[in-house]
Amino acid sequence: MDDRIKVLISEDEIKSRVAELAVAINADYRGKALKLICVLSGAVLFMADLVKRLEMDVQIDFIHASSYGAETKSSGIVKITHDLKTPITGEHVLLVEDIVDSGNSIHRLKKHLLEQKPDSLKVCTMLDKPERREIPGITPEYIGFSIPNEFVIGYGLDYNQRYRHLPFVGVLPKELI
Ligand code: IMP
Ligand code: MG
Repeated sequence: MDDRIKVLISEDEIKSRVAELAVAINADYRGKALKLICVLSGAVLFMADLVKRLEMDVQIDFIHASSYGAETKSSGIVKITHDLKTPITGEHVLLVEDIVDSGNSIHRLKKHLLEQKPDSLKVCTMLDKPERREIPGITPEYIGFSIPNEFVIGYGLDYNQRYRHLPFVGVLPKELI
């Protein structure tokens, strides 16, 4: 690992926070069936850790959205590039994201999923950068960590498709951007 990368959230901190989120989700959906939708690619590590701790009747599916623009900032134009395998009409759905930044991706994804009329739709994000919100009213129901306005990598998050495999969340120093 490049030692210029500063650890913001350690592997242990992630582990215990994921366990707490699972407790809350288990309580809220007890006795119900839940479909988790993992937003590719960033939420893959979070999703894998979270789903192992869920106790209700669980199904998983995947969706991919791309936003085109500068590399460390989303452009606001969000396109669905890979859609769900199975319909979600009448189901309880939890959208699992890596990070909510401007809110554009979640806004677009929620709109898209609500067209199918799920019974309920909530958002669970590992990280939230509330300071950066451009779309008002985008507040994920489950948040792992609220973080300051810094570009982070690791635990699924990338910079130019690299660093996703790191087991912690780190800050990428300016000289590596
Ligand atoms: P939003 O549409 O601006 O909310 O951005 C959401 C997407 O942008 C996330 O799902 C990430 O893929 C990416 N993103 C936003 N902030 C960061 C960051 O700090 N590091 C890596 N990716 C990020
Ligand atoms: Mg993402």
